[in-house]
Amino acid sequence: MIRPGEYIRDILQSAAGERHTARGWVKTRRDGKGVHFVQLNDGSVFRDLQIVLDHEVASRLGKAVLDLITTGACLEVTGVLVDSPGSGQSLELRAEEATVHGPAPAATYPLQKKGHTMEYLREIAHLRSRSNTFGAVFRIRNVVSYAIHRFFQERGFLYVHTPIITASDCEGAGALFGVTALDLQALPRTTEGAVDFSQDFFGKPAFLAVSGQLEAEIFALAFSNAYTFGPTFRAENSNTPRHLAEFWMIEPEMAFCDLAGDMAVAEEFLQFLLRDVLERCDEDLDFFEKRIDPTVRDTLRHVAETPFEHLTYTEAIALLEQADRDWEYPVVWGGDLQAEHERYLTEEAVQRPIIVTDYPREIKAFYMRMNDDGRTVRAMDVLVPRIGEIIGGSQREERADVLLSRLKDCGLPEEPYWWYRELREYGSVAHAGFGLGLERLIMYCTGMKNIRDVIPFPRTPGSADF
Ligand code: 4AD
Ligand code: MG
Repeated sequence: MIRPGEYIRDILQSAAGERHTARGWVKTRRDGKGVHFVQLNDGSVFRDLQIVLDHEVASRLGKAVLDLITTGACLEVTGVLVDSPGSGQSLELRAEEATVHGPAPAATYPLQKKGHTMEYLREIAHLRSRSNTFGAVFRIRNVVSYAIHRFFQERGFLYVHTPIITASDCEGAGALFGVTALDLQALPRTTEGAVDFSQDFFGKPAFLAVSGQLEAEIFALAFSNAYTFGPTFRAENSNTPRHLAEFWMIEPEMAFCDLAGDMAVAEEFLQFLLRDVLERCDEDLDFFEKRIDPTVRDTLRHVAETPFEHLTYTEAIALLEQADRDWEYPVVWGGDLQAEHERYLTEEAVQRPIIVTDYPREIKAFYMRMNDDGRTVRAMDVLVPRIGEIIGGSQREERADVLLSRLKDCGLPEEPYWWYRELREYGSVAHAGFGLGLERLIMYCTGMKNIRDVIPFPRTPGSADF
């Protein structure tokens, strides 16, 4: 294995004259007069290490081996670092020995230097991680994931692993994948003809979790501050550039916290993550700025430095009504905000990140705390330029009686939520939390246009390869 100090990232930081062994995959090869230049990358950094194979080494390796050094081949080279006379890099490795571990025949290797489309690269997800674009995407995803844990750990939050198989629909929206061990060709039936789930693995219907929130609340009411960070699943048939059927969500949950506290944490959290990316991902951001979206760095700085605007849903609707636009979806009080509305609000009307609060209860989940007006709930959505909603959260309904009537209003069964309701009977307190979609955030940090290109192996309607 490669140890710290031996990554290409480290080699590029070393001094001329040092001997090093570099291992990685060939990006490109160029041949000069009696000399060969190989760009080698091990994924540790955006830049490649330039390997120089001079005439002496090349003839020692022989033509048969030399011919195997092509794009995609896995190569190990030992040599001495020297100052590079060429432009584009300051150091290069003069090879003394070279081993081709795994060739990648040029005639068939699917990833060539020429620019491939994102659609094509999705079809070769087993190789696309070796490309410049996906190398940069997944390094940023890695930095962000680590920063997420740092943020919460530094603030005393407990990391909780909430279950992936669940019997309750957190969002109450019904976009659930079923989990069953029943034989679908021979389903057991009740006398009324319905599927008899009492004979299924869990003795009742079970699903993949759409959120870890309900269980995170259990932990907040024991550990004060908790967070989950895991995969969630939604069977909504939304074939859009912002929706996945499997995505990762970060969900903090805080006891002794109302909506104002919730919004403050959301803003601090998002800004912390963006500042971290700006500080630690300079080279990868250079690439995104040059090749994907010239505004990406400026947008990150803007959101990282600008205090978020606060608007109630009612105020947001008023702004949209004044906008004098031909909306694809009508603007009416009581209707959900669509992406076009969200983006108008944050990009044009206010021109900064916005937190919209106090939505009509009809369009939000049963667990959100009812306001005294009886019409709105203490929900909050964070909207940012270019994406729209990136965070959704709320203060939770901590009153047992109100919660029960909300469940009924929403037409949800009481039984699966018995423990969630009982939490309100014993030691209940005001609490709040939110969910940040990891992939929406990575789209933001990279300027990538399609959410399928910021998760290693996307799951979308009709597609679950790799
Ligand atoms: O607004 P949502 O549905 O909120 C919840 O799930 C709450 N239980 C969170 C909480 O309060 N603990 O989802 C939260 C975020 C969205 O703002 C969005 O960023 C992301 O999750 N998201 C998706 N990302 C990709 N694909 C999908 N299908 C997504 N649905 C939501
Ligand atoms: Mg939402």
